Amino acid sequence: MNHLDTINAALKALPYPQKPEGLYEPISYVLSMGGKRLRPVLTLLAYGLYREDVERAVPAALALETYHNHTLLHDDLMDNADVRRGMPTVHKKWDANTAVLSGDTMLIMACRKMMETSTPHLRELMDLFLRTQQEICEGQQYDVNFETRTDVAVEEYIEMIRLKTSVLLACALQCGALIADAPVADQQLLYDFGQYIGLAFQLQDDYLDCYGDPAVFGKAIGGDIRCGKKTFMLISAVARADEADAETLLTSRDPSVVLPLYERHGIPQLAREKMQEYYAKALAVLEKLNVPAERKQVLWEYAEALLKREK
Ligand code: IPE
Ligand code: IPE
Ligand code: MG
Ligand code: MG
Ligand code: MG
Repeated sequence: MNHLDTINAALKALPYPQKPEGLYEPISYVLSMGGKRLRPVLTLLAYGLYREDVERAVPAALALETYHNHTLLHDDLMDNADVRRGMPTVHKKWDANTAVLSGDTMLIMACRKMMETSTPHLRELMDLFLRTQQEICEGQQYDVNFETRTDVAVEEYIEMIRLKTSVLLACALQCGALIADAPVADQQLLYDFGQYIGLAFQLQDDYLDCYGDPAVFGKAIGGDIRCGKKTFMLISAVARADEADAETLLTSRDPSVVLPLYERHGIPQLAREKMQEYYAKALAVLEKLNVPAERKQVLWEYAEALLKREK
């Protein structure tokens, strides 16, 4: 079985209570509607750099995917997003209370699942997982704060996406390495690698939010512009625009007004270059990893495919 099939089969077999239905049904709804399973696959790939018996990393992989889906329930509520993975979001299909409480329950389930990991490093593993969770809350708070600011710098945006998105990819990789008993130096390199691909991953998500095909991307296009999100594209367009266009970019919440300004200032190209920049950094870090080249190649190919994703 490949890693994706392993994750999907294990997620399907996850036991959890049926009652109250209103609490658990949304959880099985969101966990069964697909998704790339990026974080758990990264955990298994990192583990596989060192050991063959990947089953040992499966509880951690499931914990990370459950946790990720918890963040999505809350994020969709915060971002007022109606569609995810081509389906109505939980707060739309049910209501806001459901998204909060089912989301909270998934967070608890995720922590309990992580604790099932068979490792002498359980305390370290939990510490990494919990630290990551707190950083993601910090990133989400900055993301919201920036909606009402007009002077967000690119560096602030990068730090915000590092916190809200990259640290979870980094954590997923380090978890795999930690459970495999990898050297501490390798764990750190994999964490750093994850951070770099994570930055490119969120830049790509922001790009697809403007230019993706909704049928493939599975989310409504233009959501970031409608929320006033300060993305790299928006910040860069403001920096390149004259005063009148900058004013429009900072005040309009209409994609049909904002997107032509992005085109005019070469923003789609600039965003692609920025993603490439982080991939080059990620590759440089991966080269330092003390693992046979053919094993690293598997991880690199998976990361590279992500950069070409359309969903
Ligand atoms: C969505 O994550 C949230 C972001 C950090 C951009 P994914 O793009 O991994 O979503 P799924 O799990 O594949 O649906
Ligand atoms: C998501 O950022 C980050 C987290 C879920 C923590 P976005 O808000 O851009 O993610 P999508 O686009 O809704 O998936
Ligand atoms: Mg969102
Ligand atoms: Mg968000
Ligand atoms: Mg997004």
